[in-house]
Amino acid sequence: MLSLGLEDKTVLVTGGSRGIGAAIVRLLDILGARVAYTYRSEHNDPPQGLALQADVTDPAAMNAVAEKVEHSLSPIYGVVANAGMTRDKVFPKLTTEDWNGVVDTNLNGLYNTLKPIIPKLYERQMGAVVCITSISGERGNVGQTNYAASKAAAIGFTKSLSREAARYGVRANAVAPGFIETDMLKPIPDAIKERILAEIPFRRFGKPEEIAWAVAFLLSPIASSYITGTVLRVNGAHHT
Ligand SMILES: NC(=O)c1ccc[n+]([C@@H]2O[C@H](COP(=O)([O-])OP(=O)(O)OC[C@H]3O[C@@H](n4cnc5c(N)ncnc54)[C@H](O)[C@@H]3O)[C@@H](O)[C@H]2O)c1
Repeated sequence: MLSLGLEDKTVLVTGGSRGIGAAIVRLLDILGARVAYTYRSEHNDPPQGLALQADVTDPAAMNAVAEKVEHSLSPIYGVVANAGMTRDKVFPKLTTEDWNGVVDTNLNGLYNTLKPIIPKLYERQMGAVVCITSISGERGNVGQTNYAASKAAAIGFTKSLSREAARYGVRANAVAPGFIETDMLKPIPDAIKERILAEIPFRRFGKPEEIAWAVAFLLSPIASSYITGTVLRVNGAHHT
């Protein structure tokens, strides 16, 4: 039987209660991983796994998550920094709250998630990190100066981490989804969605499962063992 080598590996996914995060949790579970995930508020259709309520903007909560996961499951092998949010407005209308909210979740949240875990991975000389960035972080998008800045920063973070982590046998990669059918697309007006679709050579939005497979590949100690510091674009040819 072909294997991605994720059986019994403990993986933490932030924002795993819905959308892309939930698809990642479900696929990793099918692939035999021990999955823990965080969520911010109550959710109706929770995926399998150790579910922990924690806000990624809260460093103490994320320290506690790392401890609980290792205590309840086993030493963490993989981290998927997926939690993220948008607060889209053209720049003149953007408030300081919109700016700080997005940067705090998407960028400081990445820091808070990985800060307690990376030293453990280095110490054990094993592990894989996948950061979920975005097409907007590479090509920019109208109304997303805050979001695109946070997602571009996540790419810089991932590339830097990959260079320092290499000597410890730890890999760090990013996945840059194009437009994916989740709650995140709901606030976009239909007319704008039509315009976006017309720009996507596949003429459809992506599915959360299509991101989950890219993440599983980059977590795999077998399939992607020599891949680090890369940004895997999953976007139906919607390139820059
Ligand atoms: N949907 C898209 O088109 C798209 C495209 C590119 C990148 N992404 C990225 O993919 C990731 C997942 O997005 P999605 O489309 O599934 O969106 P979503 O809104 O359906 O899910 C976002 C998840 O992040 C969690 N989250 C948000 N803020 C949080 C916080 N402060 N603390 C803890 N959890 C928090 C939410 O609870 C939820 O589980 C995000 O990082 C997003 O930026 C999405």
